[in-house]
Amino acid sequence: MVHSINNYNRILVDFYDNGRNIMSEIKVTVTDNGPYILDFPVEIVNSDDETIRDSSKRVFLCRCGESNNKPFCDGTHKKISFESVVKPKNS
Ligand code: FES
Repeated sequence: MVHSINNYNRILVDFYDNGRNIMSEIKVTVTDNGPYILDFPVEIVNSDDETIRDSSKRVFLCRCGESNNKPFCDGTHKKISFESVVKPKNS
């Protein structure tokens, strides 16, 4: 699955569970005024397919574009008073 987030590095997010496709079981939360939260073991790779985070814990991805540790959230959104409340409808 390919995500394009905030006009910087394209982020590929592979969801896995012993090789089984579990896309429908993944939860991604778009927080109010903050990061994306991925709640499931995920492998995040760069555009060269190199793993940059292999996690069995929550992953916070920057949504404001100002993190010094992109693509991960480092809390900068609070310092810059990032404002974005997204309430998409189910599609
Ligand atoms: S959303 Fe947290 S640093 Fe960008």
